[in-house]
Amino acid sequence: MSDSQKSKGSSGRSYRGGAGITKTPKKSRGRTESSRRWIQRQLNDPFVAEAKARGFRSRAALKLEQIDQKHKILTHNASVLDLGCAPGGWLQYASQKIGLTAGHGRLVGIDLLDTDPVAGADILKGDINDDAMMREIIRLLGGKADVVMSDMAADTTGHRSTDHLRTTALLDIALDMASRVLTPGGVFLAKCFRGGAEKDALDVMRRDFAVVRHIKPAASRAESVESYVLATGFRGEAPQDLSGDDHKL
Ligand SMILES: C[S@@+](CC[C@H](N)C(=O)[O-])C[C@H]1O[C@@H](n2cnc3c(N)ncnc32)[C@H](O)[C@@H]1O
Repeated sequence: MSDSQKSKGSSGRSYRGGAGITKTPKKSRGRTESSRRWIQRQLNDPFVAEAKARGFRSRAALKLEQIDQKHKILTHNASVLDLGCAPGGWLQYASQKIGLTAGHGRLVGIDLLDTDPVAGADILKGDINDDAMMREIIRLLGGKADVVMSDMAADTTGHRSTDHLRTTALLDIALDMASRVLTPGGVFLAKCFRGGAEKDALDVMRRDFAVVRHIKPAASRAESVESYVLATGFRGEAPQDLSGDDHKL
């Protein structure tokens, strides 16, 4: 990331805290070293300031905005599924782009955690691995989705390969969901910690989508292993599961 991006945020506006003044947490007694570092980083992060100033619930909203501005994934009236939606920054951004408050499009989200309401969106609290949740998502979508996006991440353990495997398992389940609900030509966007285990999921994406790209938006911290994978041009449904317990539309 360039210095100007660091101090100006993604919209080009500048912020206090990005002008060479390093903010430090007021009360740090009793905190662990890693939590002190996290708070300090939040206080001095221009994207946190920008997200807050623009009323987004999370800086993650700016990552989606940067991806969308470049790749045009969210269009007016689209039907969108957001996996791992709390606290709701992606929902807020997607809602604006599809015109949800004016009654256009459809927006369904799910997270293990509570998510504050977003006008017009259907938000579930639960685990995407739960079959009942999968069925409920399909019911709420009421048809095929144009975009399935997943920012799901497992709680980090600090053990790099464990964290990689846990996040890759979420990528796998998100891709499975996408293959069930996406419309032909649809888009799949997902968080992807690169490290090797994601290879199978990438192979499936290359088979089932016209184009697969790796993306690292400016708002994704340079030091983080986080990146995103964007697959566009869904080719159509995967072969039907004839076992009888099949959630396809
Ligand atoms: C980085 S946050 C998402 C931030 C969100 N995109 C936003 O803009 O506010 C990742 C979320 O994934 C959720 N998550 C992790 N595993 C999940 C699962 N199995 N089912 C549903 N949500 C899950 C976590 O609870 C967490 O809230």
